[in-house]
Amino acid sequence: MKTIDLSGKLAVVSGGGGEIGYALCEGLAGAGADVVALDINVGRIEGGSDKIAGIEVDLSDTAATASALESVGEVDIFVHAAGINIAASVSEFDEAAWDAVFNVNLKSAFFLTKMLIPRFRTGSVGKVVFISSISARLGYPGLHAYTASKGGLDALVRNLSTELAARDICVNGIAPGTTKTAMTKGLWEDRQKCRAHEATIPMGRMAECGDHVGPLLFLCSEMSDYVTGQIVCCDGGLTSVQADFVDLRLREGNE
Ligand SMILES: NC(=O)c1ccc[n+]([C@@H]2O[C@H](COP(=O)([O-])OP(=O)(O)OC[C@H]3O[C@@H](n4cnc5c(N)ncnc54)[C@H](O)[C@@H]3O)[C@@H](O)[C@H]2O)c1
Repeated sequence: MKTIDLSGKLAVVSGGGGEIGYALCEGLAGAGADVVALDINVGRIEGGSDKIAGIEVDLSDTAATASALESVGEVDIFVHAAGINIAASVSEFDEAAWDAVFNVNLKSAFFLTKMLIPRFRTGSVGKVVFISSISARLGYPGLHAYTASKGGLDALVRNLSTELAARDICVNGIAPGTTKTAMTKGLWEDRQKCRAHEATIPMGRMAECGDHVGPLLFLCSEMSDYVTGQIVCCDGGLTSVQADFVDLRLREGNE
């Protein structure tokens, strides 16, 4: 049985100061990688692991992103976990909100990849992983730009994978299901809403940030050197089932 060892690898993680992003940074560092986290808010990174360095940058500013990367050396792994969500009805959704969401969630994924490609180490397979969302394939009233940007991210995974295969770089995505972070607080802080939501998930619970680490380490390791262009849903089965067919009593009967 092979274990995942990322010693000697350098990983760049956008949104590494966020809840899921930082869990991913810790997972990569735990597997031996050195990590550079790019985030507009590096508070969570400061004073933490000495294998995780933070660079404060607004990723919606492409020029600022390019200068932030100047100090970064040869790269093996790029994870795009930065993301924002703005919710409003169609009639109230304005252009500034649309642009803000697309700039961070989708545009910066493309330009960070473009800027990092020349820095990818040769001689081993490079890894790019975009943190998408199950909302790329499900509808949520009000989340117009968020869902569309994540759908774009999935398309970009497939598209970049075809071109970057020639450079020995795999491009994949992870689509988390609803994960307990501030982004979804409105859902899990309310006990009744949380139970109603969890009743639609075959595994019977929302994700914790750490649930996404295993799939990430697999996609960043040599175990997945022949896997590219794929989106792994890490959602406890939520997107595999018609919600009203989830029967939690079946789980209880099996426990
Ligand atoms: N929480 C969920 O249920 C869930 C589900 C599916 C997908 N996701 C995705 O996972 C990722 C992380 O989500 P999270 O819940 O941990 O949220 P989070 O807000 O904790 O993390 C997002 C990070 O992106 C950073 N960021 C935002 N705008 C930025 C900018 N302009 N420049 C630099 N950094 C910026 C934030 O500072 C933050 O650290 C996001 O891409 C999100 O869309 C989350």
